Amino acid sequence: NYPAKVQIIEVSPRDGLQNEKQTVPTKIKFELIEGLINAGVNKLEATSFVSPKWVPQMGDNSELMQLINQSRRPEVCYSVLTPNLRGFENALVLKPDEVVIFGSASETFSQKNINCSIDESIERFAPVAEAAKAAGIKVRGVISCTVGCPYEGEIAPSQVAYVTKRLVEIGAEHIGIADTIGVGTPIKVQNALKAAMQYIDVKDISGHFHDTYGQALANILTSLSLGVAQYDTSVAGLGGCPYAKGATGNVATEDVVYMLHGMGIETGIDLNKLIYVGQQISDFLGRANGSRTAKALLAK
Ligand code: HMG
Ligand code: MG
Repeated sequence: NYPAKVQIIEVSPRDGLQNEKQTVPTKIKFELIEGLINAGVNKLEATSFVSPKWVPQMGDNSELMQLINQSRRPEVCYSVLTPNLRGFENALVLKPDEVVIFGSASETFSQKNINCSIDESIERFAPVAEAAKAAGIKVRGVISCTVGCPYEGEIAPSQVAYVTKRLVEIGAEHIGIADTIGVGTPIKVQNALKAAMQYIDVKDISGHFHDTYGQALANILTSLSLGVAQYDTSVAGLGGCPYAKGATGNVATEDVVYMLHGMGIETGIDLNKLIYVGQQISDFLGRANGSRTAKALLAK
């Protein structure tokens, strides 16, 4: 019993590019976003309002949002990451539709990624969530390392339950369950999701799976069977977190769309147009296309 329709949350402009060493011009990011929207994407993570010292590639966050605002598409939900009030205030003037507060189920990863403990992160997120609500902006919480951590190894579902509970308490309307380093396998992912489902309805949960061990589609399939109908994906499989050594890209949007359409599940995305966009950004970055579906269809 799978959902009839899936919401794709395209994360390539943010997760896909944040780890890129070469500077990607703002205009190229904008063209990527426009291409994705023209292929049918209607929800995306545009950028993050984090410290440019920590993540230089996202240092053009305001410029990119200004460019987007010149031809903003009303049907599209533009999300941005805001780890603290400073980031939120910088983002607010640019009117994102949604802000993402991003915590971790692993203490060590929380320290490495956002420089504070899990409990401290909740204290930093609370005023962000409050201010966002006051401004009529949606608040999504994302939890990293929900099955495994590059520093601590396996993560207990009780940790996922705890962080979900805290994020929901401070006002997150949605929870993303992330396998940051792609180590998860289906039963472990189910356990993480079930832990979150103690505190939030499955309709407000999304899955964010990196494909490091080739498990992402299996993890999506198992999540679909639990009723999860929203997934973060990245065109051409771009991505990785700078604070998760060895983590490769997110699951490729093309591969997810191919699987879902093959199962009769709607996404609203035009696969051929999407493949073109994925190949364009791969060419720009000088990388092999990380989508198996794109490679197969382009070779035809
Ligand atoms: P901090 O150093 O603890 O913050 O950083 P601070 O408040 O002590 O400030 C230190 C300096 O940063 C100050 O500047 C602040 O002004 C500045 P200075 O006085 O040294 O010149 N600062 C900021 N500048 C711009 N925007 C801000 C901001 N905040 C402070 N928002 C902070 C805390 C969170 C900012 C930092 O640790 C950081 O930026 N970390 C990067 C986190 C990140 O972007 N990680 C990657 C995204 S998460 C991810 O990829 C996982 C995900 O995909 C899901 C998954 O796969 O698991 C979502
Ligand atoms: Mg990620």
